[in-house]
Amino acid sequence: MYVISGSTHQRLGASLAEEMDTEFCGVVNRHFPDGERYIRILMDVDGQDVVIVQNTFPDKKIVELLLILQAVKEAGAKTITCVIPYMGYSRQERIFQSGEARSAKAIAGVLGSMCDRIFTINVHTPAVLDFFGCEAKDINGSREVVRYLKGFKPDMVVAPDEGSKDRCTLAASMLKVPVHVMKKVRIDGRTVETSSGPVDVKGCTAVILDDIISTGGTIATAANILRDGGADRILAACTHGLFIEDAANRLRVCDDILSSDTLEGVYTRFSVAPAIADAL
Ligand code: R5P
Repeated sequence: MYVISGSTHQRLGASLAEEMDTEFCGVVNRHFPDGERYIRILMDVDGQDVVIVQNTFPDKKIVELLLILQAVKEAGAKTITCVIPYMGYSRQERIFQSGEARSAKAIAGVLGSMCDRIFTINVHTPAVLDFFGCEAKDINGSREVVRYLKGFKPDMVVAPDEGSKDRCTLAASMLKVPVHVMKKVRIDGRTVETSSGPVDVKGCTAVILDDIISTGGTIATAANILRDGGADRILAACTHGLFIEDAANRLRVCDDILSSDTLEGVYTRFSVAPAIADAL
């Protein structure tokens, strides 16, 4: 077996290969002068099981993934497994207004046609898995988040919206603390309004847990409610930390921000490699 990573996951791919005691295959990954991508894999994968690790975010990384898949296919790999730690476009799995593209289906359909199986991690909605058209499974990265959060001894897990209720309830039960679910209404891509039923957070360490932090609006509005309620320490935790635009500034209301390495960045504190290795 070989593990190959695109540029989004050199570190995660290497840790995965180590966890699985297998070879990490290098890739020549560069651009032509006109900006088009060039990919060449550096090991002979003929007849081998190959695992490719790469995100579909931002857009240019999708092209890179397609070229790696094609290279591995042409080199005669026996099976191709694609691990997509952060599945970009998974938030448009439905038609919200007539005329829209069902983006998740467009991206997943192409990738699935080139793989034997695909793994995502805490994908935004499981509906996306059906669009791949090949064997597809979502890996629950909650165990890794919870393991890391234990060190903070939280008193409560807060779900910032109803969409994150199940994930937060599971995390809360693993941490053996109560869960509180807030209600969120999205006004636009950058603005949300959040309301909370009665909750006693005075003097508490509360963890707000979401699958994605993008502009930080969801977490910031929830954190402000907790701060007004007298929370002592507020932690923002997520699997996928996009942190776009002025997210860091909006999140200053939080005492700490923690995310996994599905998107590597300044707030990456823990790795999902063990969960991927188990699933594989
Ligand atoms: C949406 O429902 C997701 O679970 C996240 O809550 C959302 O993507 C977070 O976005 P933002 O950080 O921009 O509020």
